Amino acid sequence: MNRTTLAIVSFFAGVLLLPLVVYLYLAFGRPPVATADAPLPMEAEIVQIPLEARIHREMPSNSPPPASDENLNAGAGIYEDKCEVCHGTQDQPSAIGKTIFPRAPQLWVKQISGAVGVSDDPVGVTYWKVSNGIRLSGMPAFGKALTEKQMWQVSLLLSMADKPLPAEASKIVGR
Ligand code: HEC
Repeated sequence: MNRTTLAIVSFFAGVLLLPLVVYLYLAFGRPPVATADAPLPMEAEIVQIPLEARIHREMPSNSPPPASDENLNAGAGIYEDKCEVCHGTQDQPSAIGKTIFPRAPQLWVKQISGAVGVSDDPVGVTYWKVSNGIRLSGMPAFGKALTEKQMWQVSLLLSMADKPLPAEASKIVGR
């Protein structure tokens, strides 16, 4: 075999070997499939990078409705009805939220970043997540279950998680 043929043969052997190695790992390498398993190396980054790029492109640029008592109280009612089961309240973390993978972040407590829930995210980012959901996670898409106004109201509420809320909302989310 001359050098060129050897290079070509090795190249194709390499190309064929890679899917074989991947297959063997999937079949016999016990990759994480259970909710309780540890994440794959770089799993969080692989999901986060395209998600953030997409949200950045698509988040609504129009300004949200005002953070009036009426909107925040309505947001709290929606939160209690649709979100609390996974995302908890200030006094009561969600039991279910801990058992899904990835875990549902508790939106009324301080995160590793130091911010309470998603209060450090622009409201439009939260709106996008509520409307479209997050693929391969327990986060549902509410775009058909809630109206645009309701999605803004609950997103506004979450953006104020570190601030004093009107009495009614505060009673519902426990702060
Ligand atoms: C069935 C459980 C479930 C329900 C119900 C649910 N979520 Fe989620 N949510 C999740 C999970 C799981 C994640 C984490 C996804 C991830 O890490 O990729 C999440 C993520 C989020 C995030 C992003 C958090 C962050 O740190 O970026 C927001 C915002 C959010 N949910 C808001 C809501 C709102 C508002 C509702 C109700 C209208 C709701 N969720 C209902 C499971 C749920």
